[in-house]
Amino acid sequence: MVITVNGADVSLVSDGETTLLTALRDELGLVGTRFGCGQGLCGACFVDVEGTVMPSCQTPLWQVEGRAVTTVEGLSRDGEAHPVQQAILDRQAAQCGFCISGIVVRAAALLRDEPDADADRVAEALDRNLCRCGSQRRIVEAVLAARESV
Ligand code: FES
Ligand code: FES
Repeated sequence: MVITVNGADVSLVSDGETTLLTALRDELGLVGTRFGCGQGLCGACFVDVEGTVMPSCQTPLWQVEGRAVTTVEGLSRDGEAHPVQQAILDRQAAQCGFCISGIVVRAAALLRDEPDADADRVAEALDRNLCRCGSQRRIVEAVLAARESV
């Protein structure tokens, strides 16, 4: 089956019931997308599918056949980090970083759709992204700072 990942068409040998997360990590080597809960509850595996952020651990490949998927690796442009990535780096907003890929994907989608999102809206949008390190406040501040550059 063929899907588009980060702008390139890729042909996958995994069967249609394989999760998108497994195909991304194990077949394509895109390990930025993380396996957290595996149950659609933590947000570590979030990817963007044609404008909708989805938990790739709960998304079978057949559901994205022929569609365009953007992972955290696909958010940078010409070697430049996405503004959300850069703001998180600049502020050292993460601790262990395990949650960050999913958060970056969700926050990038939010600022694409709502470039003037305020702190409450950012916090609401990231509600499904768990951070066990308790870095949420710094992460929200970084996303707010990124608005100027999106
Ligand atoms: S690993 Fe997919 S939501 Fe937690
Ligand atoms: S920074 Fe460790 S889980 Fe979020």
